[in-house]
Amino acid sequence: MKMNILAFESSCDETSAAVVSCSDGKFEIRSNIIASQVDTHRLYGGVVPEIASRAHIEAISSITYEALDTAGVSIDEIDLVAVSSNPGLIGALLVGVNYAKALAVSRSIPLVAVDHIKGHIASAYLIESGVPKPPYVALAVSGGHTAIYKMDSYTDIRLIGTTRDDAIGESFDKIGRMIGIEYPAGRGFDALSREGFIKATGDEENFYSKYKGTAAHKDPVMALPTPALRDGSLDFSFSGLKTAAINLLHRYEQRGQELDRALFAARYTYEAVEAVASKIGAALDENPDCDLVVAGGVAANSHLRRRLTEVASKRGRRIFIPPASLCGDNAAMIAASGYYEYVSGNLADSSLNASALDSVV
Ligand code: KG4
Ligand code: ZN
Repeated sequence: MKMNILAFESSCDETSAAVVSCSDGKFEIRSNIIASQVDTHRLYGGVVPEIASRAHIEAISSITYEALDTAGVSIDEIDLVAVSSNPGLIGALLVGVNYAKALAVSRSIPLVAVDHIKGHIASAYLIESGVPKPPYVALAVSGGHTAIYKMDSYTDIRLIGTTRDDAIGESFDKIGRMIGIEYPAGRGFDALSREGFIKATGDEENFYSKYKGTAAHKDPVMALPTPALRDGSLDFSFSGLKTAAINLLHRYEQRGQELDRALFAARYTYEAVEAVASKIGAALDENPDCDLVVAGGVAANSHLRRRLTEVASKRGRRIFIPPASLCGDNAAMIAASGYYEYVSGNLADSSLNASALDSVV
């Protein structure tokens, strides 16, 4: 069976529409148009919800035509409409949900609602190397989430670990901004940390694995706590790391000392990545039959990608990480997740509403 899926994503600050074809469980991205509002929100140092909603309204129609045009598919050839309906900014989500509903109902096309986090995880189904087979362990790392899930099927999801406070992406954005990296700081933080790791190890290749035990790593002035809880759970707590980093930056400022930004960024990244690596290691040990999916905006982080690849391969597991271009918010991932909701019979109708809340808790 071949299906053409038209999908929408508008949960935060990207308006996206995509056409994805699915034939015998193989996905093909025909178009994946993303209108980013990052430049607008940068002026405020973060996402302003009202501005986001307005920008989604302005973009969604033209983005949809562009997605159909680029795919070379007419609306009559669309077999399924999928839309990200939660969690996220409620006003932003409503734009996508209402648009998708109107289109699906007026054209009598089946409609499915997609959980945004399940959508991120489904970005791994769009990789050339093939679709992971459930059950598998999935890590979702984004601006709002740091969570580990067990996927019992493509639609049955269970939360097995989460952050008790801040998300990893939010912490990169906040600390990054404090050391002068433009919003959203994740990508700049990644590059600056690379510089720091190379400076600490003198190695341009294996800088991450050689970082432990270097003078920079042991420097007590830059000591930071680890954000993984040592209580036998798979949970994280990023607020302690974030607060310690903020205090450290204030100390430098008060003393008028010059901070080595690259070495600081490397130290911060190391603590954050090691915390995730240790909990993912534990999650894989607890689930010996599972491969690993890593998804969400922070899955673009080069250090995290490398480290988790090592964690999985050491245990003989496969790792599925989408390319950086599919890690951020996009509608193609919503189409992939939506396909499985449809196959499972989870259809939505005109009563569909958006929700700001997580459905998987
Ligand atoms: O999934 P996403 O696009 O939006 C949410 O659903 O939150 O994730 C956005 C987050 C931001 O915090 C951004 O700074 C972070 O992903 N990010 C990165 C990198 N690229 C984006 N964080 C670390 N390293 C990166 N290379
Ligand atoms: Zn997201």
